[in-house]
Amino acid sequence: MKKTIATITGLGSYLPERALTNADLEKMVETSHEWIVTRSGIVERRIAAEKEYASTMGIEAAKKALEHAGVKAADVDCIIVSTMTPDFLCPSTAAIIQHGLQAHRAFAFDIQAACSGFIYGLSLAKAFIESGAHSSILVIATEKNSAFVDYTDRTTCVLFGDGAGAALVQKAGSGCASGYTIDHVCLGTDGEQSELICIPASGCRQPATDESVRTRQHYLKMVGSEVYKHAVRRMEMAIKHCLEAMQVPESDISWLIPHQANLRIMEAISKRFSIPWERVVKTIEKYGNTSSSTVPIALHELDRSSGLKQDERCLLVAFGGGLTWGASLLTKI
Ligand SMILES: CC(C)(COP(=O)(O)OP(=O)(O)OC[C@H]1O[C@@H](n2cnc3c(N)ncnc32)[C@H](O)[C@@H]1OP(=O)(O)O)[C@@H](O)C(=O)NCCC(=O)NCCS
Repeated sequence: MKKTIATITGLGSYLPERALTNADLEKMVETSHEWIVTRSGIVERRIAAEKEYASTMGIEAAKKALEHAGVKAADVDCIIVSTMTPDFLCPSTAAIIQHGLQAHRAFAFDIQAACSGFIYGLSLAKAFIESGAHSSILVIATEKNSAFVDYTDRTTCVLFGDGAGAALVQKAGSGCASGYTIDHVCLGTDGEQSELICIPASGCRQPATDESVRTRQHYLKMVGSEVYKHAVRRMEMAIKHCLEAMQVPESDISWLIPHQANLRIMEAISKRFSIPWERVVKTIEKYGNTSSSTVPIALHELDRSSGLKQDERCLLVAFGGGLTWGASLLTKI
């Protein structure tokens, strides 16, 4: 029997209109454009409007992915939403998106794997499609980081931005002329390092109190320099595992789409695998780190630029809080 192959048949993204520049941040905390650019590569990031949420941005990205694939929301049977900045702890952001899209046939749920979440979602979609359980799955990554970033903490507030990306996953041959086969996905977690990136309060361990609000415990905290070392090591490992599993040589990778957390981290990864710098997709300069949505936003930008030719391979790789990491090998069809 012919094997069912999971394929991305539609892509979409959404970025809020308002840009927060390094010059703006210079007025908010003790920092400089030069420090931010040399240490991270970021020039500006997008910030959601007051009434834009993870759900509303996710809906916009998903609509574009459906339109791209020529599929109606009513034909989607599963919605997987990656977010670490949900509208609510309950209900899920996925449920709100399902209603917003009028995707009444779909069951919907959130996953939380921080910045690696889109690749975790792809892995689930691949398994659902290849098992025959479901046929049209939206994987959406959407983040309103600005709601959890402490704009008095210069070590984090210069890094993050808001945005959403989405992919429709179906089986190969579903009627779409082009797309990307999801050839392999590798995932990993190291919970021992969970304190390196965390939001200490808001969960059941530390519900909101006057004290937790006063001491700014509801904001994201990160030990940047430690995270940096893990990011390079873990993303390198995830790529190696992915290539080994598929017996694909490094030289077969036409494009690398790394999580956009720091330009220097991306450079280190591209050097380790001898991937030319111009073959690394970079959106960090204009959008900053949008957590789990960096990878689908960058994939959508590469797709729109027609950068990838038929049968060429691209490698997605991400790393984030948890710690979590993941890599996925795609082939353009
Ligand atoms: C956050 C990051 C850009 C900081 O760069 P770095 O080179 O590691 O810088 P350090 O944290 O060592 O800080 C160096 C100095 O700059 C200062 N600094 C930190 N943020 C600053 C800012 N926005 N402006 C000016 N100075 C700043 C620090 O206080 C420190 O000063 P000190 O030496 O007097 O103590 C970098 O560590 C990073 O990208 N980490 C990984 C992030 C990541 O991968 N996240 C993925 C999961 S989301």
